[in-house]
Amino acid sequence: MLKKITTVASVVLLSALTACGSGGGGSTGSSTPGGTTTMGFAQVGAESGWRTANTKSIQDEAKAAGIDLKFSDAQQKQENQIKAIRSYIQQKVSVIAFSPVVETGWDTVLLEAKRANIPVILTDRSIDSDDTSLYKTFLGSDFVEEGRKAGDWLVANASGPTNVVELQGTTGAAPANDRKKGFEEKIASKPDIKVVASQTGDFTRSGGKQVMEAFLKSQPKIDVVYAHNDDMGLGAIEAIKAAGKVPGKDIKIITVDAVKDGMQALANGEINYIVECNPLLGKQLMDLAKKVVAGEQVPERVVTEEGTFTQEQAKAVLPQRQY
Ligand code: AHR
Repeated sequence: MLKKITTVASVVLLSALTACGSGGGGSTGSSTPGGTTTMGFAQVGAESGWRTANTKSIQDEAKAAGIDLKFSDAQQKQENQIKAIRSYIQQKVSVIAFSPVVETGWDTVLLEAKRANIPVILTDRSIDSDDTSLYKTFLGSDFVEEGRKAGDWLVANASGPTNVVELQGTTGAAPANDRKKGFEEKIASKPDIKVVASQTGDFTRSGGKQVMEAFLKSQPKIDVVYAHNDDMGLGAIEAIKAAGKVPGKDIKIITVDAVKDGMQALANGEINYIVECNPLLGKQLMDLAKKVVAGEQVPERVVTEEGTFTQEQAKAVLPQRQY
């Protein structure tokens, strides 16, 4: 059984850490002779409502900033992102930005960009590499902290033995690794809470539904779903309803993102708690890109500040929600 909580911050603010910048490893990029900055952006895909809002933010803000955007959708495949980055290098863009689908395996292609003197900005997701000179800055959320917030809520609201099933994001992706880690760190303080099954739903609604259907068949007692994003949580809701149970009551649901569909389900009582992950990174990305191309110092890490939402808070903010 879960108790209700009523007070959780829900401030939606973006703030840059203003600590000393890295500037990275030498390359500064260049504008075309006409003075136009070109950005090659290798997007992860279109797997979720979050991603759609993120893509729109990047496209809108590039236009507003007068940056010529070359955009590619990797359909959640690392090989496609690598191909796109190589093509941006060949086209001699001023700056490359990308959201790495997985954390590992980037050193070779990023070294090629560095040798071509094209600066790279990581946005949304980071990479696992010892060589921080391969990119100028990383703009995005603290995913471990997001997992901790989800775990904190469960620890505060669970009473008695609580069986959790986890819908993980894309295998090897930073938000999947980190949201798992932060959540586990927090629930470790309450041995009654157990993750009884954990599997990837690839950050998609259909993936979340499919995995939840399997969990409902294989697990005799499920009290809570922890979904690494709203879309998988929304897929799980469909599976729970189809199994004749009531989402939000018979099975509690915690998700991450706070996109409109997720917030609507939270306001309707079908989700119990959402940890926010803000997709509106476009403006900050364009500001950073301009600085990097001009050879100015930038912070090596720019963290997105985010809140959390209860059902009551979702009802209050839903009418003004941008995405
Ligand atoms: O990297 C951000 C994550 O990717 C979002 O939480 C998820 O919805 C998306 O697919």
